[in-house]
Amino acid sequence: MSDRQPRWWQTATLYQIYVRSWRDSDGDGYGDLAGVIQGLEYLSWLGVDAVWLSPTMPSPNDDWGYDVSDYYGVHPDLGSIQDLDRLIAEAARRDIRVLLDLVPNHTSASHPWFIDACSSRDAAHREFYVWADPAEDGGPPNNWRDFNGEPAWTFDPATGQYFLHKFLSSQPDLNWWHPGVHQAFESVLRFWLDRGIAGVRIDVAEGLYHDRELRDDPVAPSGDPRAEGGLIRMFSGNRPEVHHVYRDWRRIAERYSPPALLLGETWMVPLQELGAYYGRDDELQLAFNFPFILADFSARVLRSVVSDTLAALPRGACPIWAASNHDLSRFPTRWCAGDDAKTRVALALLATLPGALMLYYGDELGMVDVEVPAQLQRDKMAMPGQDAPSRDRARTPMQWTADTNAGFTNPGGRPWLPIGDAAIRNVAAQRDDPASVLSLVRALIALRRRELGDGVAGYEELPSGTNQWVYRSGSLVVAANLSDQAAAVEHAERTVVLSTDTSRAAGGRAHTLELGPWEAVITRS
Ligand code: GLC
Repeated sequence: MSDRQPRWWQTATLYQIYVRSWRDSDGDGYGDLAGVIQGLEYLSWLGVDAVWLSPTMPSPNDDWGYDVSDYYGVHPDLGSIQDLDRLIAEAARRDIRVLLDLVPNHTSASHPWFIDACSSRDAAHREFYVWADPAEDGGPPNNWRDFNGEPAWTFDPATGQYFLHKFLSSQPDLNWWHPGVHQAFESVLRFWLDRGIAGVRIDVAEGLYHDRELRDDPVAPSGDPRAEGGLIRMFSGNRPEVHHVYRDWRRIAERYSPPALLLGETWMVPLQELGAYYGRDDELQLAFNFPFILADFSARVLRSVVSDTLAALPRGACPIWAASNHDLSRFPTRWCAGDDAKTRVALALLATLPGALMLYYGDELGMVDVEVPAQLQRDKMAMPGQDAPSRDRARTPMQWTADTNAGFTNPGGRPWLPIGDAAIRNVAAQRDDPASVLSLVRALIALRRRELGDGVAGYEELPSGTNQWVYRSGSLVVAANLSDQAAAVEHAERTVVLSTDTSRAAGGRAHTLELGPWEAVITRS
């Protein structure tokens, strides 16, 4: 691939918007695209380069848009295709690019392809899905499990076969062995890229292919970190054939200027295998790093995940750093137990590691999980390894103001999920407070742009105590103390440019930095 193509994402700050939860323009209690347009001024003020919109396509919403029934439309709850066009144009005026969420692993059971596929064994779209005869005892054809830990197969009595679904039974998996599926998704991709989107986040990127012979997944040895529901997903996902898909898509992406961005949701792939999704710079340009997202928030663990990541990626590949998303507990809760000093350290680390940064909406306020009572929960899926079953905790409305309904929807409206601690944490209060988490994030984004704005920065770990993490990232040195005790860090004399502790003055030069408990200091020479 040409090295002359601008790779804007290498230094970008991206921002994930869970559209239903961000800003409601019409008072129906659901965030929408017109709401995103209203919020662009805020994103531009914050310094965001691109937004990833959670699924925008029509869907019966069994999995809130991750069950697509029409790949060419916009969900009426969120607006119209004209709203999306307007959003792309309005964002472009502010130098903000728009990424859509593309779901190629499965469709909704309401998609016309699946309705046709169920009509008979000879239906035109039958082979778009994965069908198999019952096992000898009449049960599922193999031991594969869905994400709820149940058999990944549902019997269709009308046609006498099972179909595969790695998620809900209303999300049948597509059969990527069928050339028609490739053609269909290439058309979808081109349709949206031609409309001006800057790229796609690819849902379940490693999952598309399954073993053609449907061999059983092996039982995981006890303590094996790859275990999911007791099995290693060796045959039900992460198959070598998937890489052809991304090589084809990359060729399509390179026809646009700048090239379209392919960002993969590469879930739970061991780090050694993450690099394969970048190919030889001919597959994805960014691949999410779940071992990092799920790491413990300790200097020892993070240091080693970061150096393992950099070792695992091909030379020149760009890492992407994220710590929250719509499927997991938010990092200010999961890593930081709601302690803002810790959240500030986490944000300073995320923003200064080499490569792209993805913030999840609300990260910039230190937004924490919200306990959603069972009767108000909207999510039907439990994710493996998560102690709380509902992902709703990380999907509650954006906290814009301290008013009733947090400025998300009008005060008389009914938000689709309950509001969190907006009285304490909200944009309006934090925007003008130089000591707020939001002001820190804005300063970090500006610093990234100023100091790390030229390709993927070089990274070098520097000596430190066990609970500290000191590294060089481009022109910056970041010294973070991930402990309750103060700690001294020695390094060549440098100038302090930013600290997570606002009482530390910028500009001072020193050989030895006395770091406070849970403080990160960024210096330059
Ligand atoms: C991805 C999405 C998740 C969804 C699942 C099935 O993991 O991030 O929200 O439930 O795919 O599409």
